[in-house]
Amino acid sequence: MTLARAGTPHGEVALRRRGDVLELVVDGAFAMDTVDTSTEVVLAEEGLRRCPAPTRVLVGGLGLGFTARAVLADDRVGHVDVVELAEPLVRWSRDGLAPEITGIEGPRCSLHPADVADVLAGRSGPPGPWDVVLLDVDNGPGFLVHPSNASLYAVSGLGTARAALAPDGVLVVWSSHVAPSLRRALRDAARPGDRVEESVLPVVRDGRAFEYALYSLTRAPERPARMSR
Ligand SMILES: C[S@@+](CC[C@H](N)C(=O)[O-])C[C@H]1O[C@@H](n2cnc3c(N)ncnc32)[C@H](O)[C@@H]1O
Repeated sequence: MTLARAGTPHGEVALRRRGDVLELVVDGAFAMDTVDTSTEVVLAEEGLRRCPAPTRVLVGGLGLGFTARAVLADDRVGHVDVVELAEPLVRWSRDGLAPEITGIEGPRCSLHPADVADVLAGRSGPPGPWDVVLLDVDNGPGFLVHPSNASLYAVSGLGTARAALAPDGVLVVWSSHVAPSLRRALRDAARPGDRVEESVLPVVRDGRAFEYALYSLTRAPERPARMSR
């Protein structure tokens, strides 16, 4: 059953209910459902685990809100900015259309209808820097729903995301497949002292085995300026 559907400049977005399962469809393509949301949660946990003081967090892609909720479960987090391209999804979350996406916005969390690429580049609010940036906006570089997201998986976009991090900050990118090109791009976007890592996440769905992956960049701590005399 379709709970809601709405057109956006980037295609139609729809929420569907199949028994207990909630499904998000973006521009006619399956984006995600609630059958197995473990890797959406691990995305949050990886970023938070790697960051010594995750006070400000940016989540790119509200989806069904599992990454955002996992971030909010960490008491060290003071505020989370969740940036979502599909404005209707933000509205449905605020209006309480389905329990799974309701009640995310609050004193510690703001929802922003915007393109996360614009936010990371400072072309629209909210302003950075962030201690943790978590990106789950598309399937990964090999299988994009929105071709306009390609730059987020390329050196230029990853470099912009790195620049939006506070020193010691962590960027983690979710991918529905192991993506050597993303790992290479993240290495090329890194600066001396940064750490780049890949974690492969095996998932079984409907009896089929998949390998999702997370790509992280931990920004080097800022060195104190050298005294000269
Ligand atoms: C797979 S879902 C995210 C799932 C989310 N991690 C969760 O836990 O439910 C991807 C979301 O990113 C949004 N999106 C796609 N491109 C975007 C962009 N450039 N900026 C912000 N959000 C984007 C989609 O509309 C969709 O809601």
